[in-house]
Amino acid sequence: MAGKRILLVIAGGIAAYKSLELIRRLKERGASVRAVLTKAGAEFVTPLSVQALTEDTVYRDLWSLTDESEMGHIQLSRDADLLVVAPATADLLARMAAGMADDLAATVLLATDKPVLVAPAMNVRMWEHPATRANMALLESRGVLRVGPNDGAMACGEYGAGRMAEPMEILEAVAAFFARANAPEPPAGRPLAGRRALVTSGPTHEPIDPVRYIANRSSGKQGHAIAAALAELGAEVTLVTGPVRIPDPPGCSVRAVETAREMLAACEAALPADIAVCAAAVADWRVAGSSDRKLKKGAAGPPALTLTENPDILATLSRAGERRPALVVGFAAETGDVVEYATAKRARKGCDWIVANDVSPGTGTFGGDENTVHLITADGVEPWPRLGKDAVAARLAGAIAARFTGNIPAEETA
Ligand code: PMT
Repeated sequence: MAGKRILLVIAGGIAAYKSLELIRRLKERGASVRAVLTKAGAEFVTPLSVQALTEDTVYRDLWSLTDESEMGHIQLSRDADLLVVAPATADLLARMAAGMADDLAATVLLATDKPVLVAPAMNVRMWEHPATRANMALLESRGVLRVGPNDGAMACGEYGAGRMAEPMEILEAVAAFFARANAPEPPAGRPLAGRRALVTSGPTHEPIDPVRYIANRSSGKQGHAIAAALAELGAEVTLVTGPVRIPDPPGCSVRAVETAREMLAACEAALPADIAVCAAAVADWRVAGSSDRKLKKGAAGPPALTLTENPDILATLSRAGERRPALVVGFAAETGDVVEYATAKRARKGCDWIVANDVSPGTGTFGGDENTVHLITADGVEPWPRLGKDAVAARLAGAIAARFTGNIPAEETA
């Protein structure tokens, strides 16, 4: 971070005292720090402390002739490599989301053409309020970066999410930003370079005893083709696959599992990811109390199997809170009323997109080489022609790349 110029916006929250430590840490790493202190921020830390630590003027007032003559607010907003807002209060996030310019901090954040990293800090109920969540989601969809907030005891006596990230965490986020910014440009034709994708594929095997299991006819062809297509577009792909007899797709890290519960654990271990595509045919049920010895034929006749529900991996990833991938795509295998059932499944499981495929016996979808699908998103239902599974995968990977590179905001696709 040596030589990098940080513009630190300190808004009015009790966590402002941590920003003094942040300035020290940034300077230790060789960055130069210039600060904008809001009126409320100055209630928590003194301009003198900020000035002493930054060794620079502290900019405070949009209407100050002194500030403007030293550096106009437009230049101030552009004369930095990164803007860091710490603490980012609910009020300042709301003003940023609304594009307001009613004080120097908001004006600088509106006028800047540089990346912005925010470290939210507020009471837990304020953080969880739908207004703040919507403001934060809007800012993130515009490319604003975020670190924290953390869970913990708050100055107001409540407990929960809302504590500002620690100075060292903010420092790491700043360092990670510059590491990414200094990374070489992704080669053309690899629009998903720098994105992490998680793909599930194949069936699961749910043991009855050590030699018998319940399974389904999924071959893994569709899921593996999707993993390969995403890797082809530059994504760093982790493929979590049930037992299949096809080769590993090129360019992917492969985790082989057997049961639904193992698949869920492997998926959770693969987070964080930007993209999750759940193409596996996960068994909805497993045998309750499966035997660890081979069941014997006997006079009592065949054993009765009791089934119990498996965890739903797609629903779990879709509701993973902070760790939720930005785009979660499910599959729906239906044998009738495909679009209707798949649309309901998309809502029930909470994924962004669902790929509906007809798996009636005559279609040969399970195990075959072709698939006829509908892509269902918030924008509607898109019927695709009958295609080879590789072509379905390439088309889906293309749509995913367009979602990330075409700046289609998450809420338009969710
Ligand atoms: O493997 P192939 O032979 O190439 O066949 C491809 C396919 C037909 C298996 C594939 O295209 C497909 O449809 N996969 C999803 C099969 C399925 O389990 O569908 P479902 O409607 O039961 O489940 C809906 C979604 O929830 C799927 O994304 C599934 O991965 C997920 N799920 C289901 C149950 C569960 N316990 N956990 C899950 O994550």
